[in-house]
Amino acid sequence: MQNSIISDRLKPYLGPQIYTQFTQLAIQKECVNLGQGFPNYPSPQFLRQAISEEALVESLQYTSTSGLPRLLKSGAEFFSKHIGISIDSEKEISIGAGAQTILVSVFQAILNKGDEVICFDPSFDVYKPMIEFQGAKQIGIALKIGKWNNKEEMLRKFENGIFRQDKEDIWKIDLDSLKYHLNDKTKMIILNSPQNPNGKVYDQEELDQLADILENYPNVVICEDAAYHHLPFGDYEIFNYPRSISHKRLSKKTICVISAGKMFSATGLRVGFAIGPESIIKGVKAAQTYHLFCLNPIMQAATAKSLELCMDGQYFKEKRIFYEKQAQTLLKGLVESRLNLNYMVPSGGYFLLTDISNVEIPEQYFIHPDTKETLSRDFAFVYYLANEFGVVCIPMSPYYSDKRIGEKLVRWAFCKTDETIQEACRRLK
Ligand SMILES: Cc1ncc(COP(=O)(O)O)c(C=O)c1O
Repeated sequence: MQNSIISDRLKPYLGPQIYTQFTQLAIQKECVNLGQGFPNYPSPQFLRQAISEEALVESLQYTSTSGLPRLLKSGAEFFSKHIGISIDSEKEISIGAGAQTILVSVFQAILNKGDEVICFDPSFDVYKPMIEFQGAKQIGIALKIGKWNNKEEMLRKFENGIFRQDKEDIWKIDLDSLKYHLNDKTKMIILNSPQNPNGKVYDQEELDQLADILENYPNVVICEDAAYHHLPFGDYEIFNYPRSISHKRLSKKTICVISAGKMFSATGLRVGFAIGPESIIKGVKAAQTYHLFCLNPIMQAATAKSLELCMDGQYFKEKRIFYEKQAQTLLKGLVESRLNLNYMVPSGGYFLLTDISNVEIPEQYFIHPDTKETLSRDFAFVYYLANEFGVVCIPMSPYYSDKRIGEKLVRWAFCKTDETIQEACRRLK
């Protein structure tokens, strides 16, 4: 009776999300938490100060449903300048409570019952329920894995204090599989770049290939999830790396999702943006009217002030250097660990993946400690790691439609302080 009161579409998602589950495990076992993707260092002082100043002067009444005009203006100015496009602050941008509710509004605005949405796996696990809640279906197409490197291969890549990323390390779209899955029901393709969890940045050639393929499917929209657009590594330019929203042939069919929380290392800020053509933004604003209605004005005003302060982009350049360094430090610690892992060098974002196929996991960890259910290899690995090494990471089967691929992978977050990463590496050595 109790469970039957919950809607059918929500029933499969009643249990705790993996992030909650493993953050709880980290607390319970006093582990170093490299699971959930939140920075564990203070968010910038200028943002905190802006929040406290705005709290004293900003109205606490309803605001415009599409966002505070000041934030629409500073967001349009910042993104136009740094992405290299022109955004009309009245028609081509909308604000929501983090990238997550923006994604909900985008899906509500675009998807009809029976539509199909293509995601390139490993893909952020919240897409699937959000797509299903609209009566649509997620089609997961696994990216082609370049090459997993063992310890010796990684050590050969280590030059001048960093792991070199070679061409064969890069994940690629399986174009044949994409062509096979595209059909009249396909309404959307999600392009998450830099990608959570594998740190992939989609390159110019892939975007051109996508544009060629989509010539035959003019009604397909690209949802560019750019939650980590301030963190492409290496030679990629921050904000202005190859992206769908600025691509000559894709921009008009792209709706781009941005997270101010990720940009300012403040995941609790809950401010996000949608930018794109007026025809889609109109729907996003309308959808938002009927769930969020409007966003907390203090947080919006403080975000506007912070974007204005950082308009030259320098703050983000410094942060990018920091994140890239953290990625390299964690990778080095994992290469030097007692674990028999395989590795790839990430191109951006908050996370890196390792392959756990060769790790010997004691039998007992394949049984859930409380429910006694049988666990897949990736979940068993996380329990093994938490219990025997005091470190927590995230299992990757929830990020794959084909669970057999994800069961061999785990995700490690490097958006953490030096002390946290060093302590994790010490425990794993
Ligand atoms: C790929 C991706 N998109 C969207 C989000 C949601 O971002 P926000 O915290 O702004 O809601 C996340 C958060 O982890 C993410 O990893």
